[in-house]
Amino acid sequence: MRVLVIGSGGREHALIRKIKQSPKVDYIACTPGNGGISYDAECFDVGACDIDGVVALAKKISVDLVVVAPDDPLVLGMVDALNAAGFATFGPNAAAAIIEGSKVFSKNLMLKYGIPTAEYKVFDKAQDAIDYITEKNEFPTVIKADGLALGKGVLIPETLEEAVAGVREIMEDKVFGDSGNNIVVEEFLTGPEVSVLAFTDGKCVKPMVSSMDHKRALDGDKGLNTGGMGTVSPNPYYTDEVAKECMEKIFIPTIEAMNKEGRTFKGCLYFGLMITPKGAKVIEYNCRFGDPETQVVLPRLKTDIVDIFEAINNETLSDLDIEWSDEACACVIMASGGYPKSYPKGIEITGLTDGQLDGVTVYHAGTAIKDGKLVTSGGRVLGVTALGKDLQAALAKSYKAVELIKFDGEHYRKDIGKRALEAKNN
Ligand code: AMP
Ligand code: GLY
Repeated sequence: MRVLVIGSGGREHALIRKIKQSPKVDYIACTPGNGGISYDAECFDVGACDIDGVVALAKKISVDLVVVAPDDPLVLGMVDALNAAGFATFGPNAAAAIIEGSKVFSKNLMLKYGIPTAEYKVFDKAQDAIDYITEKNEFPTVIKADGLALGKGVLIPETLEEAVAGVREIMEDKVFGDSGNNIVVEEFLTGPEVSVLAFTDGKCVKPMVSSMDHKRALDGDKGLNTGGMGTVSPNPYYTDEVAKECMEKIFIPTIEAMNKEGRTFKGCLYFGLMITPKGAKVIEYNCRFGDPETQVVLPRLKTDIVDIFEAINNETLSDLDIEWSDEACACVIMASGGYPKSYPKGIEITGLTDGQLDGVTVYHAGTAIKDGKLVTSGGRVLGVTALGKDLQAALAKSYKAVELIKFDGEHYRKDIGKRALEAKNN
């Protein structure tokens, strides 16, 4: 089989590494990919949102399967266009990807079908939202832009002043463009967060092993929100009991709700969950693999991922036994100095040979090859990932490797997995 992967981050690198293990696959391409991915797949320069360009590329290099990994092309309908051109794909169509593309859609879906989530109200006028927040007078509160906003569309203001400024920025200054035409104002929930990615063919849902993201830039969950500074799997808060509750009250009802809406979801559905004192609730849905969750989940997958993709396309997922390793996995993100704000690019990275280092897997997120040298090209640069007999062992391997990899201004959190280890010990 010849497989094309769309995207350019660490998640895509992890997908490619897993696809490469399939005995069915003899060629992998990626567009646009990155410097580190180019050691594992032939990279092209078609942009991840260029639907016509991707369809043309798929024809030109005659692939058998296209895996669309990022949210934007899924929401824009890349899978629909590829299917219309006769290509097999992995990823939901646009009708189903709306579960991430519109928070108003997903909140209304959960309300309609009784899926546990934070209480909310939708607004299309800034003043109405401000009046509501003023009257409610409960802080922190949560304000979400309806549409995609590069993972930055959620504000958690602590005061009325901050909330008013946030509403105005989103709805009047349009800092996220049309994504802010509508907003959701919702109840602030508390509790540990769990990420669960799940395979589904629309008939059955098979959750993958759980994971925990670390979204803030600095140790102790301080600093700005980022795309994710590291992940661990499993997540100790996702006990068997919680898993059972989620399956009954969230996963199956969501798949059924999407079917009833005529929006059957096929692909990887990401459940962002909060384990509140009143049970597990959905914080967000994503219509795709998480980044950097994928980097710690897929190394634990023992089943051929191409078999899973095929079972989803054939709607025979329930017949497939998906196996996972009992090992733990940790991913430490090495980021450019300054990220998530502005940062320099083109800085040489040392300590790697062909992008890799013995004992760990280095997933590349923001790297390029310039004059034969590996250099930085993004905010999140590398995801240094290791499996171990337990989380402590996995973290030790990752951090030992991180010490050996160097670039000027590098920044990484020193406490990835700390919360998970503490939870385990309690
Ligand atoms: P999202 O982009 O929807 O994942 O939101 C980003 C982060 O904001 C989440 O990972 C949570 O930490 C936080 N968050 C979102 N919604 C809520 C909520 N209703 N209550 C508390 N925290 C929230
Ligand atoms: N790590 C969170 C996400 O992929 O949206």
